[in-house]
Amino acid sequence: MSGDDIGLTQAWGQVYINGGLAAAHEAVVSAFDRGLLYGDGVYETLRVYSGKPFMLDAHIRRMAHGCSVIALTLPETEEIREGVRLVLAANSLTDAYLRITVTRGATGRLWHDPAPSKPTLLIIAGPLVPRDFGDGLRLVVSRYRADERSPLSGVKQTGILSKILARAEAVRAGADDAVLLDTRAFVAEATSSNAFWLREEKLFTPSLTCGILAGITRRIVMEIAREREIGVVEGEFALGELRTAEEMFLTSSTWEIAPVRSLDGVEFPRASGPITKRLQELYRGRTPA
Ligand code: PDD
Repeated sequence: MSGDDIGLTQAWGQVYINGGLAAAHEAVVSAFDRGLLYGDGVYETLRVYSGKPFMLDAHIRRMAHGCSVIALTLPETEEIREGVRLVLAANSLTDAYLRITVTRGATGRLWHDPAPSKPTLLIIAGPLVPRDFGDGLRLVVSRYRADERSPLSGVKQTGILSKILARAEAVRAGADDAVLLDTRAFVAEATSSNAFWLREEKLFTPSLTCGILAGITRRIVMEIAREREIGVVEGEFALGELRTAEEMFLTSSTWEIAPVRSLDGVEFPRASGPITKRLQELYRGRTPA
């Protein structure tokens, strides 16, 4: 399967930048913004259903956690909420993709001095046409790795070059996305989503010790599964365990639950299988109508 992914590819509508709205094609940040120069910032992507940003508080909390790890001052939660409201209203968006980016701003300091500063807050949004996953995503195992030893693992930082290149390499190989292993070769996650698979009615997912992002969708899916008495096993899994799965899917705020068809060209016995479908329906039941 190919086709466009979810997200904005060009300046669109009105954006929120440092305290107010601006036309997207006119919005500017300083040439000295550390987000631009060094990837010194964090971001969140979320999905808006019927005008309601889903799990906004959880995304702001994750951002606050990332900011505390990198000693960046997160703008006030009220300012972020107000920016989100303004962007959605200005663009008359109901079903949307929303991205909140906070960088350390233009501090006038040397690159190695991350002293607190006035951060840059940028919020962009655009219409979301849900992606059709057809009969499932085709994945390959990437040569890029998640680094579970890094203090930055779990921080949703703006510098995602390894993810960009891992995805591009997968697409060049005729796949849709890549699975990253951690440095010990345990299964970690995909380039912008968390991984789950099913075997013998149990749901498996890599634990947070595998250098993954603590996905908000992942948490909801685990909650739903437990409520339905589907056993959930979080752990450190060798690739061989994933290769023997019956069903596999990926989760993210924008993709929700995306079925996977194959890994390295080998099809799973039940691509887009019954448990994946059931969890998709149950997840939909949690999102605003
Ligand atoms: N990606 N793992 C990685 C590396 C991610 O970038 C994401 C999110 C996830 C899933 O997290 P959540 O369920 O909280 O969205 C896991 C978003 C969608 C993005 O980069 O745009």
